[in-house]
Amino acid sequence: MGKKYNIAVIPGDGIGPEITTAAIEVLEAAASRKDIEIFTKELKAGGAAIDAFGIPLPQETIDSAKESDAVLLGAVGGPKWDKVEPEIRPEKALLGLRSGLGLYANIRPVIVFDELKDASPLKNPGHIDFIIVRELTGGIYFGKNGTYQSGDKLPDGTVKGQVAFDTESYSEGEINRILKIAFELAMKRRKKVTLVDKANVLVTSRMWRSLASQMSSDYPEVEFETLYVDNAAMQLIGRPSSFDVIVTSNLFGDILSDEAGQIAGSIGMLPSASLGANGVPGLFEPIHGSAPDIAGQDKANPFATMLSVAMMMRTLGEDEIASEIENAVKKTLSSGFRTSDITFDDEGKNIKLVGTKEITKAVIDNL
Ligand code: IPM
Ligand code: MG
Repeated sequence: MGKKYNIAVIPGDGIGPEITTAAIEVLEAAASRKDIEIFTKELKAGGAAIDAFGIPLPQETIDSAKESDAVLLGAVGGPKWDKVEPEIRPEKALLGLRSGLGLYANIRPVIVFDELKDASPLKNPGHIDFIIVRELTGGIYFGKNGTYQSGDKLPDGTVKGQVAFDTESYSEGEINRILKIAFELAMKRRKKVTLVDKANVLVTSRMWRSLASQMSSDYPEVEFETLYVDNAAMQLIGRPSSFDVIVTSNLFGDILSDEAGQIAGSIGMLPSASLGANGVPGLFEPIHGSAPDIAGQDKANPFATMLSVAMMMRTLGEDEIASEIENAVKKTLSSGFRTSDITFDDEGKNIKLVGTKEITKAVIDNL
């Protein structure tokens, strides 16, 4: 008898249901040939949960997610919920899942497939293959925040009035555990770690920098470099192929991974894994959002979600299934299938512009 996996599926909003359905179909097809059974349980979060229960993250979703072997998430949010109270915004579901499951390590690989080099806005992107390791449950996303009224005046006499604040705060423990993940990952790859911070201004960044340089002495084989985040934004465009593992805080990682998505041609290609302590289920999701403008139209690119499922299988120790899904995606690209977000300069290249369903069928045929 083969193995069984219980996957909690959170389709979410916008294109979420289409892309998770597509990725699960591919997973089921790949797993069945290996005598592995996939059980899925659909859970609500984000706008879908607000509509159904009035809150973005029902306890049932957290509990069921915790009981699963892994969680697949589509995307949450959309203009429909832009006016709800900040405390129940759809994005809160994602943040609540990350902190509720203790998923502190966000792994975002950035690979530009040869077939999609034309889709990258860079003239000569070279061979791009790096991973952003983003701290996910600390920093300004989870620090003390609030608003208050102030009667004080600014030096020029302007009354302050309403004041809003968010706090960036990191503990040594939080920083060291994510650094460790980055250095260990680099050891399995091209052995280079780039720390991105703002140590010329921020106290937290200076702590990141000193802990990272301490840790780098435990990894003498790993080349260690540091970049200020503003410079990193430039270097990512200027020398993208020079990066191997980039490690950074929650906010900087959020920003740089969208930039990386653009470098890769389409954010619709980039998967992610959010991991916590051993034994805690990981959460796997495309890094893009819910794309409400194309939702329900069979136009969404499901590759990032399929590649997220591949990361899920690799994390569960099913390397063969993971590689098979990745290869099927590559084959589908080489045979010319494209969704509209990755169709560029296609003259004479036998490109077939198709929808989500047809491209999913092509991937399954290529397994
Ligand atoms: C991401 C997203 C989220 C984040 C939003 C939706 C809260 O942008 O996963 O990168 O900021 O972390
Ligand atoms: Mg983001």
